[in-house]
Amino acid sequence: MKELYLDKNGFGFEHDIYNDVREIVYATSKPEDVIAYLKASHWRFEHELIPRIEQNFLGLIKLTPNSKSLPIILNLFMKFQVSLKVHMDVEERITFPAFLNNSIPAKSANENSHSHEDQEPFLSEIIALLKKSKYASNPFCQLLIQRIENFDLELKKHAWIEEKIINS
Ligand SMILES: [Fe+2]
Ligand SMILES: [Fe+2]
Repeated sequence: MKELYLDKNGFGFEHDIYNDVREIVYATSKPEDVIAYLKASHWRFEHELIPRIEQNFLGLIKLTPNSKSLPIILNLFMKFQVSLKVHMDVEERITFPAFLNNSIPAKSANENSHSHEDQEPFLSEIIALLKKSKYASNPFCQLLIQRIENFDLELKKHAWIEEKIINS
C-alpha cells in the first residue's frame, strides 16, 4: 500500500507501508531552497535528533546498569554520528556550493561525498540489535527504537533528495 505525502517545502514522496521513499513526485523549489532545506535538515540531525537519541540511550543505560549490550550499541551509534557529521561537513563545504554554482564536482569527489551506502546499514543494525536485546519490551527502549526508526526514515528521504536532485 502506498500513500502520497507532501512536506511543507513542496517535496512529494510516495511511501509504502514500510515507509521507504519510493519516488519524488515533484519539487517546486528553486536550487537555493533545496539547499536551504538540506542544510536545515543537517542542523536538525546534529542538534536535535542525534542529541535526543543519545539522551535516550544514556537514560536507558542508567535504568539498566548491568547491561553489557547497551553500551556497545551506544558506541555503534556514536561511530555512526561521527561519520555522518564528516559526511554533512563535506556536503556543506564542497557538494552544495558546487551544485549552486552549477559546477558539479569531479565524479570521484561527487561519489565520495554522496555515497550514502556506507551509512545505511548502521542504523538498521542498531535497531535490529535493540529489538533483539532483552530490554526490547522496556517502554524507554521502545521509545528509543521508535526515535531511531524515525531518524532513519528522515535520513533516507534526505539522501534521496541529494542523490536525485543534486546528482542529476
Ligand atoms: Fe546531507
Ligand atoms: Fe548526503
